[in-house]
Amino acid sequence: MEIIKVDNLSTQFGDNVVHDNISFKVNEKEIFGIIGGSGAGKSVLVKQIVMLNRIQKGSIKVLGKEISNISLDESQMIKQQFAYLFQFGALYSFLNVIENISVMLNEYTDLPKDLIEKIAYTNLEIVGLPKSSALLYPSELSGGMKKRVALARAIAMQPKILFLDEPTSGLDPSSTEKINELIRYLKDILDMTIIIITHDLGTIKRVLDRFIILKKEIIFDGNIEEAFKSNNEFTKEFLRRKGD
Ligand SMILES: Nc1ncnc2c1ncn2[C@@H]1O[C@H](COP(=O)(O)OP(=O)(O)OP(=O)(O)O)[C@@H](O)[C@H]1O
Ligand SMILES: [Mg+2]
Repeated sequence: MEIIKVDNLSTQFGDNVVHDNISFKVNEKEIFGIIGGSGAGKSVLVKQIVMLNRIQKGSIKVLGKEISNISLDESQMIKQQFAYLFQFGALYSFLNVIENISVMLNEYTDLPKDLIEKIAYTNLEIVGLPKSSALLYPSELSGGMKKRVALARAIAMQPKILFLDEPTSGLDPSSTEKINELIRYLKDILDMTIIIITHDLGTIKRVLDRFIILKKEIIFDGNIEEAFKSNNEFTKEFLRRKGD
């Protein structure tokens, strides 16, 4: 079943055409990738899906609801099913690890403090961080650990759809590989659809079930085997250039 359906979406800022009539769908419980060069409109697309950016033309259905004309109540209900890790999203530097993971639970639930702490510790464990890291502050963490804490924070509310914008950017190859493994693990143990914006060929090859390549239009839609068989020059070039 499809959880997101985008139809004939066009977006432009002034003369800058970012999306030219794009259509695609995301199936429930898959890891779906949005690929494309810098400025291809990947982040804008995700922001439109999560209702942070306006839809200028076309339609986006999320969980069966058309979001371009939706009531406030309905949009709030849908937003509760989302979690995201933004491209340059950071942890709160003045909160320790466990407080960072608890932020949304404190803000949006009435759960008692001790239960919130329990949930936070459970999520700390799920993302593979030791209990001993719970009281550290972001400045005391490595890049890979920060990503793990951000992931723990994102999954703490048990979202239906998790959006990850460049989850491995800025990491060395070994930490990148570990985050890729973690994302697959999360999808296996949690009941989620995951949408990832990425440049990383390891993520594309080993993590994604299916992906689109954006270049104003959608120039590819399929899985990695299909991408390697594609006759589209840009798709071939993309896989070759990043080749590993
Ligand atoms: N609010 C805005 N007003 C005007 N132009 C915008 C706005 N938001 C994005 N753009 C432009 O839209 C284009 C797509 O931006 P977007 O952030 O989606 O790119 P991206 O594919 O995520 O790139 P990157 O890989 O570098 O993150 C860019 O040219 C950007 O400058
Ligand atoms: Mg971006």
